[in-house]
Amino acid sequence: MEFSKLIEVRQSCRKFSAEKVENEDILACLEAFRLSPSACNAQPYHISVCTGEKAAAVSECVNSMGMNPFAKNVPCFFVIREDSYSAAAALGGLIKGQDYRSIDIGIAAAHLVLCAADRGLNTCILGWFDEKKLKKLLGTSDRIRLVIALGRAAEGYPIRPKVRKSIKQISDFDNGK
Ligand SMILES: Cc1cc2nc3c(=O)[nH]c(=O)nc-3n(C[C@H](O)[C@H](O)[C@H](O)COP(=O)(O)O)c2cc1C
Repeated sequence: MEFSKLIEVRQSCRKFSAEKVENEDILACLEAFRLSPSACNAQPYHISVCTGEKAAAVSECVNSMGMNPFAKNVPCFFVIREDSYSAAAALGGLIKGQDYRSIDIGIAAAHLVLCAADRGLNTCILGWFDEKKLKKLLGTSDRIRLVIALGRAAEGYPIRPKVRKSIKQISDFDNGK
């Protein structure tokens, strides 16, 4: 797909069909995630693929306080947690007062959702979830930073126009003047 089209059709889906996702699509998403850049190439993350009964359990965790009810139908979730930093990235982050791990995870998530959109799939990045419950489910003590729902939108689900600030509002680009 043309990149300009891809970034237009990629949107947060909040009405999924129960249709399963092919392993091939999941693998392609993981590959896009894997090839993303990260500070010092540290790749400080782990991504769990949850389908079937595990997906049902994840959907309960992300619908904490009823905030993501559409997650019920989702056939596949990616749960992204932090992994250890490399020494170089940890030192760089310390010196510069930055935590590059969340930045790296955000960039990798963007790769994943665009890959999914390119394959005609739909996603929703989820930052609202019961982390304690998710950690227990996955048997980890690592911080969980993001969950991504993956599936196919329900029939007739529309592509919404993007609601965004203008370039002027978010940048200081003066168009070459
Ligand atoms: C870090 C992050 C956390 C988000 N958490 C949620 C969430 O918990 N539930 C939800 O429905 N959407 C969530 N979203 C989706 C945003 O609401 C959405 O990206 C934004 O409104 C722009 O809409 P669009 O993705 O359709 O272009 C999240 C997005 C990001 C990047």
